[in-house]
Amino acid sequence: MIGKVYIVGAGPGDPDLLTIKAVKAIKKADVILYDRLINSEILSYAKKNCEMIYVGKADGKHTMEQDKINALLYFYSKKYPNVVRLKGGDPFVFGRGGEEAIYLAERDVPFEIIPGITSSISAPAYSGIPVTHRGVAASFAVITGHEAPNKKKSVDWESLKGIDTLVFLMGVTNRQEIAKKLIEIGRNPDEPVAFIEKGTTNEHKVIESTLKEVSQNPPEVTPPAVFIIGEVVKLRNKIKWFEKDEIPINYLV
Ligand SMILES: C[S@@+](CC[C@H](N)C(=O)[O-])C[C@H]1O[C@@H](n2cnc3c(N)ncnc32)[C@H](O)[C@@H]1O
Repeated sequence: MIGKVYIVGAGPGDPDLLTIKAVKAIKKADVILYDRLINSEILSYAKKNCEMIYVGKADGKHTMEQDKINALLYFYSKKYPNVVRLKGGDPFVFGRGGEEAIYLAERDVPFEIIPGITSSISAPAYSGIPVTHRGVAASFAVITGHEAPNKKKSVDWESLKGIDTLVFLMGVTNRQEIAKKLIEIGRNPDEPVAFIEKGTTNEHKVIESTLKEVSQNPPEVTPPAVFIIGEVVKLRNKIKWFEKDEIPINYLV
């Protein structure tokens, strides 16, 4: 038997930020292999006898190796007609979804990609920060803040000088280094920045600062967080809505 594997983006946290296509795939899944940070409400769409396999990080342990996850996807595609690989945000934005798709393609396993709402844009949006804004930011980039030690492709720091809004994912640990490098390449030390912890969830928290302050005396930040840099952060003064919204998060249900 050859099943189909759906590589599905689960969105950033708010369970209502799931696409209709993702819900359809979850509902018909025979097995779901899911990551850390996937809201349990999302998993509750699954049918009763759906096998649930956690492939994320266990406390104090490393993430399950990618090779092992790939092998599991292949294994379950031989066992079940509908296999869902559920990933945080969007599967192709620092989600290793491309590697899983290549592995399956090389073994002639049919698959579909169901894009998800990435935290890189939605966590700022829930904070009242548009990543682009007419007259303020005409470009934005999403960058890894944690380059792999055996990196095959590294960040071209110089190229970040001319981009208006920078969004770093996985950048909490290296936040001071990142800020230093950005000042080094010529970005304005007074540029506003924000860290958005657990964006779009009930624990959504925004910490505002400047590049200079982060480079000298970085604020406390708890991952997962989006680190956003640029003049657009100032628009939050006017556009901030989620943190002051008195309507509960699931008002659309
Ligand atoms: C491995 S990357 C995966 C990104 C994901 N594929 C996406 O599109 O959002 C994990 C990083 O995404 C960011 N992230 C994911 N969910 C987040 C959330 N709800 N709030 C803030 N940052 C989040 C953090 O920077 C975290 O370290």
